[in-house]
Amino acid sequence: KDTYQITLLPGDGIGPEIMASCKEVLGALTKRCGFTLEMKEALIGGVAIDEAGDPFPDESLEQCLKSDSVLLSCIGGYKWDSNPRELRPESGLLKMRKSMGLFANLRPAKVLTQLIDASTLKREVVEGVDVMVVRELTGDVYFGTPKGIDVIDGKRVGYNNMIYDETEIERIARVAAEVEASIHITGDRATCCRAYGDVASKRGGKLCSVDKANVLDVSQLWRDVVTDVITKEFPDVKLSHMYVDNAAMQLIRWPKQFDTMVTGNIFGDILSDEASMLVGSLGMLPSASIGESGPGVFEPCHGSAPDIAGEDKANPLALILSAAMMLRYDLDRAEEADIVERAVEAVLDQGLRTADIKQEGDGCKLVGCIEMGKAVAEIVSTIDI
Ligand code: NAD
Ligand code: IPM
Ligand code: MN
Repeated sequence: KDTYQITLLPGDGIGPEIMASCKEVLGALTKRCGFTLEMKEALIGGVAIDEAGDPFPDESLEQCLKSDSVLLSCIGGYKWDSNPRELRPESGLLKMRKSMGLFANLRPAKVLTQLIDASTLKREVVEGVDVMVVRELTGDVYFGTPKGIDVIDGKRVGYNNMIYDETEIERIARVAAEVEASIHITGDRATCCRAYGDVASKRGGKLCSVDKANVLDVSQLWRDVVTDVITKEFPDVKLSHMYVDNAAMQLIRWPKQFDTMVTGNIFGDILSDEASMLVGSLGMLPSASIGESGPGVFEPCHGSAPDIAGEDKANPLALILSAAMMLRYDLDRAEEADIVERAVEAVLDQGLRTADIKQEGDGCKLVGCIEMGKAVAEIVSTIDI
């Protein structure tokens, strides 16, 4: 296959800026490698509320579902923060994940040697860190019911429900183990799982499941089910368990103890942002959101960064690295993914830095989002493979 339909979701804030840079890179890549990405934009987030009255309109869902893959920037902004829940950009993102069945979110935090000093942590702590956070994405307190803010006995009461059923835990445990164990799978996800295999062969076979089983019943079920799945189906994977409070501390204390981590939706949200500071910036962290079958959505871990939107200051590399994950996992184009990832490293070798990864006195050149995108695209066109 050499033509793919890709839906682009530029979203809000810095979203359109980083998407423009990413398109430069993909343009250079397709030209060089002789395949075609038919890219078509769709609405999500605040811009979709403004233009279509819905943070994820049905037309966007239909277009995503009939694509080979989806690339998303980020959503959200102050403008919509006091809207009713169903008219918030974040609700569109959650609707997209749920309606596309994207239950697994892979968030790799790999420290690049060029950026060791961009981390606020000591060099010896972060050097060589390569953690994969596997975050469950369509369950937990994000989607549990009942939920709301009601008046009970004359007081306002806010509540959400942290809930998982065993099938949801089983399937995310399997994805995490596949990332870890290089198990061969067939079916719709074969391509993606071959990519897991790629990842896994470089990983160490250690899986740490993170929960709060000392307090929460839902976490006790999580721990029991993860233990069952791993011991029965993946006897080669070395499984350990950790409470989330300790895990948050251990990630900063000595992150090299971790290989793959698997956890629920909200703990994974928090721990992956934390892990981004090992790498140096949230602007460097890509992710892949995937399901059992159908297109995945490839999205940076960061948000719409309203504090720097429209100023050409955003780091486009998290989105560009997410596009590399798309090439690898959804389009079965591992070589092309390698080109993009190596071009990102090469641009850092050249000393180009957006503000979020620039250190005072590092001798590097401060560039904006546009220049960073152009530089990566240029290298993609010329780099030897
Ligand atoms: P954020 O991730 O947008 O920003 C946090 C900090 O990181 C900010 O200082 C920002 O400038 C910086 N940052 C983030 N991405 C960057 C990049 N690519 N380059 C340089 N700096 C970058 O989180 P927030 O400020 O808590 O949230 C802002 C909005 O984004 C909210 O509406 C929130 O709901 C939304 N959000 C969306 C997503 C998503 O689309 N997946 C993720 C997180 C937050
Ligand atoms: C993320 C974001 C989203 C989440 C929000 C914006 C709904 O923080 O993608 O990490 O919590 O999943
Ligand atoms: Mn988040």
